[in-house]
Amino acid sequence: MEKKPKPTFYVTTPIYYVNDIPHIGHAYTTIIADALARYQKLKGKKVFFLTGTDEHGQKIEKAASEKGLSPKELADQVVVRFKKLWQELNVSYNYFIRTTEKIHQEGVQKIFNQLLDKGDIYKGVYQGWYCISEENFLSEDVPVEEDGYKICPDCGRKATLLEEESYFFRLSSYQKPLLDFYSSHPKFVRPQSRMNEVVSFVRHGLKDLSITRTSVRWGIPVPGDSRHTIYVWFDALHNYITGVGYGWNQELFETYWPADVHLIGKDILRFHAIFWPAFLMAAGFPLPETVLSHGWWLKDETKMSKSKGNVLDPYFIMEKVGGEALRYFLLREVPIGQDGSFSHEGFIHRINSDLSNDLGNLVQRTLTMVVNYFSGELQTPGEEKELDRQLSSLFEVTRDRVIAFYDDYSINRALEEIWAFLNSTNKYLADNEPWKLAQRIEERSRLARILYQALCAIRASSYLLYPVMPETAEKIWSAMGEDKKPGQVLITQFNFYGLKPGQKVKKPRALFPRVELKEFIGGIKKSTIAEESSRKQEVKMDLVSFEEFKKMDLRVAKVLTAERVPGTNKLLKLQIDLGNEQRQIVAGVAETYSPEDLVGKEFIVIANLQPAVIRGIESQGMLLAAEVEGQAIIPFFDREVPPGTKVK
Ligand code: MSP
Repeated sequence: MEKKPKPTFYVTTPIYYVNDIPHIGHAYTTIIADALARYQKLKGKKVFFLTGTDEHGQKIEKAASEKGLSPKELADQVVVRFKKLWQELNVSYNYFIRTTEKIHQEGVQKIFNQLLDKGDIYKGVYQGWYCISEENFLSEDVPVEEDGYKICPDCGRKATLLEEESYFFRLSSYQKPLLDFYSSHPKFVRPQSRMNEVVSFVRHGLKDLSITRTSVRWGIPVPGDSRHTIYVWFDALHNYITGVGYGWNQELFETYWPADVHLIGKDILRFHAIFWPAFLMAAGFPLPETVLSHGWWLKDETKMSKSKGNVLDPYFIMEKVGGEALRYFLLREVPIGQDGSFSHEGFIHRINSDLSNDLGNLVQRTLTMVVNYFSGELQTPGEEKELDRQLSSLFEVTRDRVIAFYDDYSINRALEEIWAFLNSTNKYLADNEPWKLAQRIEERSRLARILYQALCAIRASSYLLYPVMPETAEKIWSAMGEDKKPGQVLITQFNFYGLKPGQKVKKPRALFPRVELKEFIGGIKKSTIAEESSRKQEVKMDLVSFEEFKKMDLRVAKVLTAERVPGTNKLLKLQIDLGNEQRQIVAGVAETYSPEDLVGKEFIVIANLQPAVIRGIESQGMLLAAEVEGQAIIPFFDREVPPGTKVK
């Protein structure tokens, strides 16, 4: 018996770490999710779209302390940036989950307890190489280097050897159930190549998974054993159920769970395709339908990421060309699953050729003709001829193909189809030469048909484009005098000949002005790095009054002793003289200065900053330094100054 289609659709993005500000890579996942959500709504589904932020763990704790903030303060700031970006990109999520929310924490603790009672979680001792940056123990086959350390294969940084009491999840018991599940659900992971990877990994055997840390404080405590903090991935993955009501809105949860599609990047495949279904099986929940793994956006052949400093700032791009063009480019350029290289030339080409020419000009020209020839009023069209019928039948074929591609998550192919249809519409106008007919009074009715037919085709293609470019589709519909928005019309109700004679059309402003490559590259060079433009924004936005500035107690400090913090590359522990007191600070300067460089030196510290614990060491102040390509450069004095002198 054929499966009845579900009336609901639940789509998720990964929850983003808050140590990074949003970049094109994050925007990519979220835009795909948004397009799928909008498409499913057109199909009449009740849709729930979840996104959010992953706020716990050592990485966040460290990033916050480097900025002199508490982890929650850092998260609060970064969340604002994510939400603002989603708003500007027209992302229509239903709920933004934060892992620091009570509903989430309680949900995770509830499941932890349940699995503990069931025996799927047990206490033991873990020894392993841990990568702080990736928040992950390295797999055992990573070799030990000559200097006795292991290097994290994902980020290239030195890992730290940790031994600690830990709770374990009995992942090994789920090897067989997982393999059975994969073979009965061969489309659980997509694309197929990723499914094969997962199956082969699981076939090699699964070890139990350490899911708590005693070395990390910033996280959800193990219920009843608060020395232990729940490992970020056990915490984070459960957002997909806590974000949709688990533990706080049973009806919501039952309506939408299991998810139809978890969108993820290929770097987090193992967590979603192995750990997550195993956790769910253990807790007795139904499993999601699909884990859709997309590729990376590369810049200069490497993955864009904050640590590499090669991220493109979506705001810069949006300032130049708007969010819609960015949505189009990201979804059109590469099939989901493959990597894409962000080249300025490719980007400009898509905008000028596809958006400005094929779409923008077509809309502008056709509407202008209706305004010029018929004072902006749609006329009753003359008789339909073969050429006209060809265009409407071509639309029927296009629509079916576009639906099939959207259903198959092949958004780029759907866009190709839409563009082929736009080009046929352009050709229809070129073949029929309405501008010539307009000169002959006896051709009015034929002219009316051609413009009507072309407008119907534009209206229809913008309808199909709506999931990817909602604002553009709305603008086009509104310029045609439609009172409905495309998002309010179901696919099953959509009618090619939906335009009514008498409707008033207006000329829209150019939808996509052409962009000049030269000007664009110049601009990108100046501010590609997201942080650079964020710094600029901060300068503009965060003015402080003199009174506020005076609250900062800046003092001259002299370094008495300095030593490296074991197991880190960046940190030095310094004892400093502040005139009438001695203090200890932890400073992230070890990549630029050795301990000997600093002893006896004087610099400026903020003396009244709230103390913070960094890698288990209390830091009672922060020194001031410039950050140049990730390196801290300390401003020193050009003469001796008494320690403790106030700086203003
Ligand atoms: N917090 C985890 C996810 C937990 S989900 C339960 C995480 N966060 S992340 O912020 O580092 O990455 C989130 C998503 O952004 C991942 O899917 C990742 O693949 C994606 N991208 C980050 N950089 C990317 C590119 N350069 N290109 C495309 N997507 C990439 O992992």
